[in-house]
Amino acid sequence: MNEFTKTVDAVRQGRNITKEQLACLLGQAGSEEEEYLFTAAREIADAVFHKQVFLRGLIEFTNYCKNDCYYCGIRCGNRAAERYRLSEDEILSCCDSGAALGFRTFVLQGGEDPYYTDERMSAIVRSIKDRHPDCAVTLSIGEKSHESYQMFHDAGADRYLLRHETADEEHYAKLHPKSMSLAHRKQCLYDLKEIGYQVGCGIMVGSPYQTIDTIYEDIAFMQELGPHMIGIGPFLAHKDTPFRDEQNGSVQTTLRLLAILRLLFPKVLLPATTALGTADALGREKGILAGANVLMPNLSPVSVRGKYLLYDGKICTGEEAAECVVCLRNRVERIGYRVAESRGDHPDFA
Ligand code: SAM
Ligand code: FES
Repeated sequence: MNEFTKTVDAVRQGRNITKEQLACLLGQAGSEEEEYLFTAAREIADAVFHKQVFLRGLIEFTNYCKNDCYYCGIRCGNRAAERYRLSEDEILSCCDSGAALGFRTFVLQGGEDPYYTDERMSAIVRSIKDRHPDCAVTLSIGEKSHESYQMFHDAGADRYLLRHETADEEHYAKLHPKSMSLAHRKQCLYDLKEIGYQVGCGIMVGSPYQTIDTIYEDIAFMQELGPHMIGIGPFLAHKDTPFRDEQNGSVQTTLRLLAILRLLFPKVLLPATTALGTADALGREKGILAGANVLMPNLSPVSVRGKYLLYDGKICTGEEAAECVVCLRNRVERIGYRVAESRGDHPDFA
């Protein structure tokens, strides 16, 4: 036992972490020590989820956005982005083919696009739930009022993903224009929880100006919020954003952080993200072996895939949904896991 492995055991047992322990687990370590961390995380995930991996069908239904986040390829300031919107019929047809492929969760993600008014959005959610009552609908459409969130929930939305991006005020201000605030982002997450959604927060790993201190604040915020899902993936630069010359986030740090989050939040739904799969061809498998238990293949029509580019080099922009499912199923099985057939709710909601 050395300091690293002792720290893994302490964090695992205490389900808590100090800043020093975080620095240790994200610091210098050999491959055996890293494997010790990943094994500990995997054991916890396996005990709760029995080697199941949950698939979420991601429908990127609009790349219009009124925000101008400095890191994001579909920010409104990016004049080079070719914009698109999917109609309600197109969204429903993605869900129909997804359901036929075995998906039991649809994630509707998009920029903050005023075209989709609360009424339009609620109608879309209602239609999906009418046609697929056994499926969960997750929304990921940014910051809205309590009233709007309530309306979507009343229409049948089950879950909501809203990464907080960073829990540090100064860091937040370096990633976003003045019109956006961390306080509002946090308020949205509390509103969503209060309404009764399964809620996901999260961060980009290695975003510009991120430090151990800010990651520690992120974890403290997560502990306070008690999320059902945590989305983390490496920051990857996009050529048409102010962060074009910034360094990409590290795969290794992302994997370690996934494992740490699993030690701290045994029951949380934790995706191995497309960004992780973009940064490393085997990133998603490595993520699952470090404690992740969700994959989010793309269900968007192939014609628009190449336009929802948050970062450069995004994978799976050419394949049909069916191909993605076969590919992911194989990847999951090759590492000794299996794709679940259930909706994959958080254990407290099941
Ligand atoms: N508009 C919604 C929102 O703000 O939550 C959903 C869409 S937004 C594009 C989804 C997530 O993509 C963001 O929360 C952010 O963490 C991630 N993202 C954006 N740009 C990225 C980049 N360059 N590298 C990695 N992830 C990125
Ligand atoms: Fe709006 Fe990225 S800036 S989705």
